[in-house]
Amino acid sequence: MSAPQREHWSRGLGFTLAAVGSAVGLGNMWRFSYMTAENGGAAFVLLYVLMTLLLGLPVMLAELTVGRGAGKSPILALGHYGGRKWRPLGGLFVLTGFAILSYYSVIAGWTLRYTVSGVLGGFPEPSNAKALFGQIASGWDAAAWHLGFMVICTFVVARGVRAGIERASLLLMPVLGVLLLGLAVYAAVLPGSGAGYAYYFSGDLRGALDFDAVKDAAAQAFFSLSLGMGAILTYASYLSRQSDLPLEGARVAVSDFGVALVAGLVVFPLIFALGLQHAVEGGERTTLGALFITLPTAFNKLGAAGAVIGVIFMLALSVAALTSAISLLEVVTASLVDVWNWRRAPAAWLCGGAIALVGVPSALNPEVLDAMDSVGGKFLLVLGGGLLAVFVGWVMKHPAAEAAGLRPRPALGVWVWLLRIVVPLILAVLAFYPGGLASESFRKLAALFTG
Ligand code: TRP
Repeated sequence: MSAPQREHWSRGLGFTLAAVGSAVGLGNMWRFSYMTAENGGAAFVLLYVLMTLLLGLPVMLAELTVGRGAGKSPILALGHYGGRKWRPLGGLFVLTGFAILSYYSVIAGWTLRYTVSGVLGGFPEPSNAKALFGQIASGWDAAAWHLGFMVICTFVVARGVRAGIERASLLLMPVLGVLLLGLAVYAAVLPGSGAGYAYYFSGDLRGALDFDAVKDAAAQAFFSLSLGMGAILTYASYLSRQSDLPLEGARVAVSDFGVALVAGLVVFPLIFALGLQHAVEGGERTTLGALFITLPTAFNKLGAAGAVIGVIFMLALSVAALTSAISLLEVVTASLVDVWNWRRAPAAWLCGGAIALVGVPSALNPEVLDAMDSVGGKFLLVLGGGLLAVFVGWVMKHPAAEAAGLRPRPALGVWVWLLRIVVPLILAVLAFYPGGLASESFRKLAALFTG
């Protein structure tokens, strides 16, 4: 029996939209603003830019190259170039996707909840913002919204790459962009927002020497670009030979960075203008909610117009979260489809269902969510990205030629050496050095069990 022809993106922007849709999500808004707040503002932003250039771009091109070249989902793609012994790395990717989506969907559930409560009752007064966040963010309610989000996500993935994923991205990504820019302008004219820019751009840069900030910045670069677990690899597997991989990678990275930057231009000026500094000071538990405490307050202050803008914004954010969640579920699902010949729809529902269950504890308890984020969203991504760099740098036969495709690009020789030495070395230190991501993950997991 011959295998059915592999689905491809439609001509033009199909891949770009889907990959940008994967990259742009809660990572750019929720996670970027809270990581920045937790690591002291400007210093973290600087580190994040450095890490994106030095680690993110090379690994992005590595995923694109393996995916497009093999035309398969991660497990088979790694086997294609490296033989059976490299398949477990694909397995690690699937596991990582599983872990990340389980709590990502909880946060996406908060966004949905803010959308709906915005429609029903508007947005909270500044004095209530924190309490409302506390209510929304954990408990059985949060679990119900998380399950609802997983149902939507699974439904799209079950329908397939073109019908589901492309169309969803095409429609709502531009809406999010326009609203975000509008909010940035609004924040700029609010009295008192100046301190926010100072915090965001010119804070104390000595913080950039802090090991914790460096490891968070590297992990954030991976998370935000959807790297380290085969999502970009899987999307690239639906690309044709003609596509220009370095260009595609650069497009995704620039868009993703742009959205994070503008999100910060909204969140930090608003925090200071609205007197919500307590949202960024006072420990991890509140910084985690920086975005969800500040934005709804701003919508409240904007009166009737704010209610409308707020609802559209939260809806657009939910869709951005959806297009990212889809890419996570796609990796897990495509593996069942490719490796075990499952049909797409049952595979999607099985994976989506299992992930939804695993996510319930994260919905009930923010400490679980935080621990899952450290394990899946930081440690496993950095580990996966590092191993993929080694794979492409040392195991693949002609990575530069494969990345270049139909156009010769001599500069790719530098890229190969980054993957061979620089990227793995830095990532290994961040992951395994005492106090690194491995020990952070272990400490947080252990704390859950010892109470
Ligand atoms: N990049 C997405 C965001 O910023 C999240 C995401 C989607 C992701 N797919 C991923 C993160 C794969 C890591 C790996 O919200």
